[in-house]
Amino acid sequence: MLHTLPEGAKRDTEALARSYSRIRKFQNDRGELLLQWAAPQPGETVLDLGCGTGDHLVELCNRVGTSGRVIGADPDGMRTQVAKHLAEEHGAAVVFVEAPATELDEIEAAQVDLVFSNHVLHWVLDLPRMLSEQARLLKPGGRFVFECMGKPIEEVDAMMRLMPRFEDLRQELSFMEDYQWRTEIEAAGLVVEVLEWTTLDLSFPDLDAGLAWFSASSQGAFVPEQLTKPERKRLEMRFPDVVTLPIVCLRAVLRKPIA
Ligand SMILES: C[S@@+](CC[C@H](N)C(=O)[O-])C[C@H]1O[C@@H](n2cnc3c(N)ncnc32)[C@H](O)[C@@H]1O
Repeated sequence: MLHTLPEGAKRDTEALARSYSRIRKFQNDRGELLLQWAAPQPGETVLDLGCGTGDHLVELCNRVGTSGRVIGADPDGMRTQVAKHLAEEHGAAVVFVEAPATELDEIEAAQVDLVFSNHVLHWVLDLPRMLSEQARLLKPGGRFVFECMGKPIEEVDAMMRLMPRFEDLRQELSFMEDYQWRTEIEAAGLVVEVLEWTTLDLSFPDLDAGLAWFSASSQGAFVPEQLTKPERKRLEMRFPDVVTLPIVCLRAVLRKPIA
């Protein structure tokens, strides 16, 4: 079946996917905390929504054990390729679905105990549809545990404005306010247990490390080598040393009611 591919999936390269897997410290740290919150149990069926290069799949498999099932879904074939190799290397029996979060019809309804999603949903343009798709997949009583980014605050916007293709990237990102999340969650038939906003520092030792992270995390929306000299100069003046960006994050635990 043909899926509506996000721009990032069309643009990604194998090199970027591999570099993401190496430099995803921020997402890795957040994902490990999210795993604690999600607390996958032996025997559960878990969907890693936007699994990317699959760095949480092995741990998810360990948690659910041989009686459980792990599905990794991501629309980006370059990322799922890296994820498949990683799972094979670790002997982790993951079922992969190459599809966006809004079009998971390959997965039957009411099969999933836990939808786990780490730093993905800000890339999903149709968030109401994404929510109703997870509600369809969850068993009654199942949970949807996610963390994603909130609307960038001024300092982050300022950095992004200094990079080419900023406006293009804006079209690929999607943010909702707290009240919109609550309205859409209810409309999808899910119940909020936790919906919590925090601001965290995303730090890099220098500008190049920051640009490499932006490039790999946005599937190549920024190509640091394409910066013109004046663009590069402006960035260097703004970020002469360690780069620290305050990032707004939304963490949520949603439940599908039993009846
Ligand atoms: C920053 S990565 C996070 C990957 C992984 N969850 C992690 O913890 O490293 C964002 C991922 O979201 C995926 N993505 C982008 N748009 C998506 C969509 N519409 N549905 C599902 N995943 C999407 C990308 O392909 C990418 O792998």
